[in-house]
Amino acid sequence: MILKTEEEMRAFGRKLSAQLRAGDWISIDGSLGAGKTVLCAGILQGLGFSGEVASPSYAIVHQYEPPEVSIAVAHADLYRLEGVADLEELGLAEERSDRITLVEWAGRAGAGYTVPTLSIEIQPQPDGSRAVYMKMEENDATD
Ligand SMILES: Nc1ncnc2c1ncn2[C@@H]1O[C@H](COP(=O)(O)OP(=O)(O)O)[C@@H](O)[C@H]1O
Ligand SMILES: [Mg+2]
Repeated sequence: MILKTEEEMRAFGRKLSAQLRAGDWISIDGSLGAGKTVLCAGILQGLGFSGEVASPSYAIVHQYEPPEVSIAVAHADLYRLEGVADLEELGLAEERSDRITLVEWAGRAGAGYTVPTLSIEIQPQPDGSRAVYMKMEENDATD
């Protein structure tokens, strides 16, 4: 998928949000300035959040709770992550099933940390647009 502008990225996030439910984990990767936070802002907007969405600074997970969003959301950025101990301190995987988790720089956690529902990679193109690649994990579709 090619998204030409910030507004297209935000609109994609809004659209995606309609498919999300508690327990979903969205891993987002892409270089600095790729548009990871813009995508998260679109998702949050789609879930009803009307404020500004900033990139969480390291070691801080932004938590959004109803009624400002329809489903609770944890938004994290692992850019400065150094090791597994750091990850545990963040407590992201705890009670994951209660919320939607959005993780920028998810790759820094290493493969095997958790099974994301959806992995998204954003690649800036020479013309300023963004190529977006998605990989959906096989979940047990029992419901
Ligand atoms: N197609 C696009 N999608 C998303 N952002 C874009 C696009 N084109 C330009 N931009 C700009 O790129 C920047 C992305 O910033 P941000 O979302 O904070 O990146 P990241 O979180 O990946 O570091 C914003 O300034 C945004 O306006
Ligand atoms: Mg960011």
